[in-house]
Amino acid sequence: MAEKSKSKTTTVSTGESEIITPGKKTKTTITADAESEVIAPEKKTKTETTTNAEKEISKLEKKAKTISDLPGVGATSAEKLIAAGYKTMENIAVASPAELMEAAGLGEITATKAITAARENLEMGYETADKIQERRASIGKITTGSKELDELIGGGIETQSITEIYGKFASGKTQWCFQLCVATQLPKEQGGLNGNVLYIDSENSFRPERIVSIAKRFDLHEEDVLKNIFVARAFNSDHQMVLAEKAEDMIKEKNIKLVIVDSLTSQFRAEFIGRGTLSGRQQKLNKHMHTLMKLAEMNNVAVLVTNQVMSRPDILFGDPTAPIGGNVVAHASKTRIYLRKAKAEKRVAKLVDSPSLPDGEAVYKVTENGIED
Ligand SMILES: Nc1ncnc2c1ncn2[C@@H]1O[C@H](COP(=O)(O)OP(=O)(O)O)[C@@H](O)[C@H]1O
Ligand SMILES: [Mg+2]
Repeated sequence: MAEKSKSKTTTVSTGESEIITPGKKTKTTITADAESEVIAPEKKTKTETTTNAEKEISKLEKKAKTISDLPGVGATSAEKLIAAGYKTMENIAVASPAELMEAAGLGEITATKAITAARENLEMGYETADKIQERRASIGKITTGSKELDELIGGGIETQSITEIYGKFASGKTQWCFQLCVATQLPKEQGGLNGNVLYIDSENSFRPERIVSIAKRFDLHEEDVLKNIFVARAFNSDHQMVLAEKAEDMIKEKNIKLVIVDSLTSQFRAEFIGRGTLSGRQQKLNKHMHTLMKLAEMNNVAVLVTNQVMSRPDILFGDPTAPIGGNVVAHASKTRIYLRKAKAEKRVAKLVDSPSLPDGEAVYKVTENGIED
């Protein structure tokens, strides 16, 4: 299975075909209009043809440049960037100067130059709405195992953004993670994405036997299902952040379609106690959320994070519980789902603050088989 998925994810470089295209054009063009445009230069002096072709090629080569070729970034800085994990133009383009200064030890000017150059190189900036529509059309959805739940959240957990589930202890957050570990591997017709899972476990609550139970329900080969879930224990918040930062290579190599962080906040919460350190915690959490957001957007994967709740003494009416992490987590999570326990195996999920769906609730069950209607 691992071999199979490897070949699936092999990316084809388009740089070469782009360079070949102009040459092809001159050979195959037949219309009169095009002939005068394309063949004319060939008829002219040889030197001019080469200059045109050269110009075309150098223009295209500019796009295929490596980090060390970026204007304003010397070989030493490029090495530092690569060593710090900024291996692609995209990695640099979406970074902030402060981030590059901290991670790669660059000066502020070099960091800013590198980011600007990478953005120009990738032609990042405004894009037309049809491009956004096109990208959104490639959003994948993973079924939760319950029709009611899927309906509530618009068809399943989406790729390209972060979905946050929050609730009290034993509200079923980790059970969601197990369910989605299996569902992601299902074929598209069954609500999956035919992909594998990266699982960051910060509470030591990953249980293979639960995966096996859920896999049985879908008639999947249990051993294969387990082999397609890549689990890492996060021992503290820094370790958790590093695991997320290093996830991109794995995502590409192993055909990952879902990244889970269970729990997102518990390590941060344990390490930063008391008000005095809250801003430090929020800064780190913000950085972590941005890493996850980039992973989701740039690799077309779903990111599922679980979050705990705290009691808010200032809320006198209604539910006094609120998710940890304040605005930092709230802003980065595109879909937020609040989980509550009901009678017996019944659970209630409430959709909170979705940009495209109405708020609402769904009732489902958590059983030996995972999540069901
Ligand atoms: N094998 C199982 N069969 C039925 N229900 C289970 C099973 N395992 C766990 N659960 C349910 O899930 C609950 C634990 O949920 P969990 O996802 O670990 O909570 P959280 O991560 O929110 O703290 C248990 O209290 C139980 O109701
Ligand atoms: Mg849990």
